Amino acid sequence: MQWTGLNELREKYLSFFEGKGHLRLDSFPLVPKNDPSLLLINSGMAPMKKWFLAQEEPPRHRVTTCQKCIRTPDIERVGITARHGTFFEMLGNFSFQDYFKEEVIPWAWEFLTSDEWMAIPKDKLHISVYEEDDEAYDIWTKKVGVAPDHMVRLGKEDNFWEHGSGPCGPCSEIYFDRGPEYGCGKPTCGVGCDCDRYMEIWNLVFSQFDADGKGHYERLARPNIDTGMGLERLACVMQGVGNLFEVDTVQSVLHHVEHIAGKTYGADPKEDISIRVITDHIRSCTFMVSDGILPSNEGRGYVLRRLLRRAARHGRMLGISRPFLVELVETVIQSSESAYPELREHDAYIKKVIGTEEANFARTIDAGMNILNNMIDGLEKAHEHLLKGLDVFKLNDTFGFPLDLTKEIAAEQGIEIDEEGFHAEMTKQKERARAERLKKNISGWSEDLFGTLTAEPTEFVGYDTLKSDSVVVALSDEEALTDAIATDEQAKEGVLVVLDKTPFYAEMGGQAADHGVITGAECVLRVQDVKKTPKGYYVHTCTLESGIVHVGDHLTARVDKEYRMAIARNHTATHLLQAALREVLGDHVHQAGSYQDASITHFDFTHFSAVTPEELVRVQKIVNDKIFESMNVTVKEMPIEEAKKLGAMALFGEKYGKVVRVVDIEGWSTEFCGGTHVKNTAQIGGFKIV
Ligand code: ALA
Repeated sequence: MQWTGLNELREKYLSFFEGKGHLRLDSFPLVPKNDPSLLLINSGMAPMKKWFLAQEEPPRHRVTTCQKCIRTPDIERVGITARHGTFFEMLGNFSFQDYFKEEVIPWAWEFLTSDEWMAIPKDKLHISVYEEDDEAYDIWTKKVGVAPDHMVRLGKEDNFWEHGSGPCGPCSEIYFDRGPEYGCGKPTCGVGCDCDRYMEIWNLVFSQFDADGKGHYERLARPNIDTGMGLERLACVMQGVGNLFEVDTVQSVLHHVEHIAGKTYGADPKEDISIRVITDHIRSCTFMVSDGILPSNEGRGYVLRRLLRRAARHGRMLGISRPFLVELVETVIQSSESAYPELREHDAYIKKVIGTEEANFARTIDAGMNILNNMIDGLEKAHEHLLKGLDVFKLNDTFGFPLDLTKEIAAEQGIEIDEEGFHAEMTKQKERARAERLKKNISGWSEDLFGTLTAEPTEFVGYDTLKSDSVVVALSDEEALTDAIATDEQAKEGVLVVLDKTPFYAEMGGQAADHGVITGAECVLRVQDVKKTPKGYYVHTCTLESGIVHVGDHLTARVDKEYRMAIARNHTATHLLQAALREVLGDHVHQAGSYQDASITHFDFTHFSAVTPEELVRVQKIVNDKIFESMNVTVKEMPIEEAKKLGAMALFGEKYGKVVRVVDIEGWSTEFCGGTHVKNTAQIGGFKIV
């Protein structure tokens, strides 16, 4: 067994499994895609659920990754002991309906024990299996040769892996025995004991079920393998250190914290807590921001804000009086950039986000402290000892005081806080936010209406043509689902029509839907809106101006060309605008939302101070210069790798398909984009920022 750096261990693991026929994939972003059950990716398998459930074809049936993960079950505990961290990396090898126990168990053993790989002494390793899993037990003891006194059978609580809903199954865990000096000394001490002696390093999950999260398990037609080994834990073993904070890469961050604080880790247990909190949290925060999460009062953004503020507060507790978190970001990046190039790619941006949040918090903390002290004075005068939930909420909402900060400060004055009341207020706020989101999320209705359709998704032909002969595959008019009739006197509004193919662009990627008409021998439909359902049906919201329309009718769909061109002018102008903003303000500028219709383009972006009027004038001039230069706009489909080489700008944390559409303006602006554009910038005419 030889000391090996964390970055090298990661590489060894991935190349070992490449040697076993696995495809190596990059870590997925921390933000889950299309998985509302999860706030942040918390295991290697989480982004691959569809492949486990055979709902989507994987790029290969054997895959290996090192996945960045965040787990935040109880942030308050992180730092108090050296055991917990919020950020970690999970090594994994996965089989999607391919190999199973017979293969994975010997491979795990080979990687850990063979001289060529980790060379961990065999008698240091202990194995647990699910109590009823004789098959796994036999493979370990007979095929691999593990001595029965190094085997233990445990119940569902320990050896059945599941995380909410999704793929799950019985598992087998590999433990490393760190020696009696780490143990509790009890005669019952063994694998599964609460003490630090036996450290779980690797979990092999025999993923055979799909759980609904409510206790129902559906057996999968063909089983999978899902494994997870904490990279930092493996590093603890290979570096002979006691916990994650002593692992080389993490330690570089910890040393930097010590240096800034002028403290020595290990000198004072209370200060050690603060040093660990900062070390762990800044790692999580750096990775979260690099994946496009911004501090906010909701969801992932709230987790980020909370971690940042907790770290900032612990900095104050160490006596650090200047903003310092932003300085640590560089050390985090240096320690991990070899595996996560996105850190360096976004370094200026990450530093701005974290620096700004830190500075804002520093400003509000003093204002908030005054308010809190007044509240406490008021309570004391009234001889009361409970701070109202609404007050705690206000401190949180307005001054960014995390609950635990208020609690800690109040406790110092002998005051308790009404946590339940606070959570009730938080829930109310979340519901308000949810209602807001639902209002904006228009796909809900069409998903309900056309969710059971089994026809092929609508084919979009509108990049090449503005007219098509199409067939009605579904429609809805109030209760009627097969036809709609307009009376002589009155047009019928709100008729929803799904076509087999359409030239109408659906509202998507910030671009408004096309307008136009759909006509047939018996009807005239005026198209007012088009939305695409999650299953790929284009739903045209129409006014039936006259006649009757049925499912199965052959109709002609015609996009209003002038309207389409007006939208295209605004969309191409948006690309010019983004490139100009980057030129004037810096490369950290990224689109954070945009909307183009026939009259205007609205563009949100991330930047950390107000843009000055002079800067706006410059941006506007650059865009107009590019219009006057009459540059060609070309659209190409290409493999994603090629697009990245061209430097095409993608949205943060987005996973794109293998083939992407790239809109290029003579190399000056290159973006991934599904929208419709003019052919030459001169067609835009002119551009003005209002
Ligand atoms: N999915 C398993 C875990 O996270 C491997 O432990």
